[in-house]
Amino acid sequence: MADEVRILGFAGSLRKHSYNRSVLRVAEKLVPAGSRLKTFDLNGIPLFNQDDERELPAAVRQFKAAIVEADAILIVTPEYNYSVPGVLKNAIDWASRPYGDSAWNGKPVGVMGASVGMLGTSRAQYHLRQMFVFLNMYPLNQPEVMIAQADEKFDEHGNVKDPKTSEKITELLVALADWTRRLKKAGS
Ligand code: FNR
Repeated sequence: MADEVRILGFAGSLRKHSYNRSVLRVAEKLVPAGSRLKTFDLNGIPLFNQDDERELPAAVRQFKAAIVEADAILIVTPEYNYSVPGVLKNAIDWASRPYGDSAWNGKPVGVMGASVGMLGTSRAQYHLRQMFVFLNMYPLNQPEVMIAQADEKFDEHGNVKDPKTSEKITELLVALADWTRRLKKAGS
């Protein structure tokens, strides 16, 4: 489809039974018509070392290529110690390098997060939004999807059992596709 929105999504948790990985899987099912959600697993991305940024490791090259190919980015992340998990920050740093060749430049981005706490990753999400300034990404402001007390909202198979949570995920996907189309139109 000519105006299909290709979204690249990834989770900031490597945990097998991660709530955030579950959210991403749920999002794959809820993606609206006219959009496609491809996912990337950050497992396998090595620790950043600036010595290697001119000859990127294979996994990082694949990650950067997937970002460049996408029309929009979807980040689904836990909050660790009131901020972004190292796994996610590490991946963001790799794809921003070398200087002048960042894969993130100009990409629309949506953020969601699930935590077992009461604030549903809000602090991590605002730290991410600060990064988007330097990365020159275009964050979707609303809706904010901050899934609090995630242990009560998913069953043991990682399915959402809370209809409000599915609704918010759908709302964000629709809004991200719309935002991406609007930016594309404005730029063409
Ligand atoms: C956490 N957790 C957590 N939760 C939160 O709401 N705010 C926080 O600052 C933290 N900090 C934190 C640090 C570390 C190192 C761990 C391992 C965990 C709890 C977190 O919400 C919970 O482990 C989630 O289940 C993590 O997401 P995934 O792995 O289920 O996607």
